[in-house]
Amino acid sequence: MAKLTVSARRIDNPSQQRTQCAVVPVFEKERLVGAARNLDKASGGAVSNLISLGDFTGKRGQSQMLAGCKPVQRVLLVGCGQRDKFDRKGGLELAQNIARAVKGTSAGDAVIYLNDLPAKAKSMRWLIPALGRLLVTGLYQYTETLSKPGEPARLSRVVVDGGKSLPAAEASRLIKQGKHIGDGVNAARELANLPGNVCTPDYLAREARKLGRKHKSLTTKVLDEKKMRELGMGSLLSVSAGSDEPARLIIMEYKGGKAKDQPYVLVGKGITFDSGGISLKPGAKMDEMKFDMGGAASVFGTMNAVCDLGIPLNVIGVVAAAENMPSGRATKPGDVVTSMSGRTIEILNTDAEGRLVLCDALTYVERYKPAAVVDIATLTGACVVALGSHASGLYANRDELADQLLSAGQETHDRAWRMPLWDDYQKQLNSNFADVANIGGPGGGSITAACFLARFAEKYDWAHLDIAGSAWNSAPKGATGRPVALLTQYLQDRAG
Ligand code: BES
Ligand code: MN
Ligand code: ZN
Repeated sequence: MAKLTVSARRIDNPSQQRTQCAVVPVFEKERLVGAARNLDKASGGAVSNLISLGDFTGKRGQSQMLAGCKPVQRVLLVGCGQRDKFDRKGGLELAQNIARAVKGTSAGDAVIYLNDLPAKAKSMRWLIPALGRLLVTGLYQYTETLSKPGEPARLSRVVVDGGKSLPAAEASRLIKQGKHIGDGVNAARELANLPGNVCTPDYLAREARKLGRKHKSLTTKVLDEKKMRELGMGSLLSVSAGSDEPARLIIMEYKGGKAKDQPYVLVGKGITFDSGGISLKPGAKMDEMKFDMGGAASVFGTMNAVCDLGIPLNVIGVVAAAENMPSGRATKPGDVVTSMSGRTIEILNTDAEGRLVLCDALTYVERYKPAAVVDIATLTGACVVALGSHASGLYANRDELADQLLSAGQETHDRAWRMPLWDDYQKQLNSNFADVANIGGPGGGSITAACFLARFAEKYDWAHLDIAGSAWNSAPKGATGRPVALLTQYLQDRAG
């Protein structure tokens, strides 16, 4: 994708504003107003003709490109449905609709007229960053491993007229914020989309160092297997034991707050390929287990956005990266390992590996005396059964933290749904041969996985997002970049 710059400004006379594409929201069943009316007049009634022909009615989701006239090359009409029913969902659809339509043209710039939307300052403060984010994510295309990438999107400059309810400078700041978040979402998608033979644990480590070189506020530390052995991370190392790719524990420290501010810590599951290990997975859709580092990808994406936004907090991103493979050196069902916490774990199923890498990372981050820790993991197929793809599963040992994350998800439409973490489930993890077993039997698989993690997160406020259903789509196949928007919103909210 061409690099996109976004800004906002008031524009008095749209038909005199030079652009390759004027984007005009149109409501159903009403007379043309504002920019639509102005451009209709200038084009000798082209817009109203199209409406009276019935080709474009302004229904939600509709879009229609028209040839413009100088100095406006094209006019893109986007349907918003009925004015009194235009809500946040309508705003999200509008943004996606604009991105989709503009992606299909060769327009190099666009001017988007939001000034006719029935929006008060409060809703514009929501809509403008959402538009910035969804434009950027809507233009994303994966090309990295294609020999013939096809035409990249041409769009490189977007100006928004955000209307009278907000000062243009504020609108400009907001759309840029949204753009940074969209870039973070895309960074997560790109990493997760990369194949397992490219995106290895060490690749992720190099990616972190690259981010550290780009941002002065970010420092990177990478622990290799030797260092992890010294720290006693027997659980994490049991996962990489069968792989030729060595594990990495990647730590990215962002300092945007005061030196003494307690940091917010994000911990991502970074299984760059999950074959299941000796408890080998069946063949169908096994390729999708390259996405098993989706949690790690979301940590990278969020750290990207945090740096770009310059959020005034201390934030630490930790990625537990390993590949889960069968081999003569692989961990076997029944093996008992000792975690960094000193607790022993009976590995009854080597395919329940996410919790094994995360528990040692959760112990490791105690040293930061965190304000809160959120781990993000494509942890269980059971979560997909429970919630499908629309909601990420949320678990927390503090109600306040759960509520903050739920509300950040609601705000960005990157939603989560809280699941129980009751003690009653803990006994499913009892083992005769170790302090805890790594699987909890057939019932409540997402819950018992969370219960396992909870035992290693007792020393701080902690939440866990099971993103097994939300991190990627199967048709068409591709990473979603979730929950970068949720996490970034959560951090922005903490910064006030
Ligand atoms: N990465 C998988 C979870 C997963 C499966 C995510 C399918 C998305 C789609 C995880 O490592 C795993 O294999 N979990 C097992 C746990 C079981 C052995 C207790 C699962 O869900 O089957
Ligand atoms: Mn697994
Ligand atoms: Zn896994």
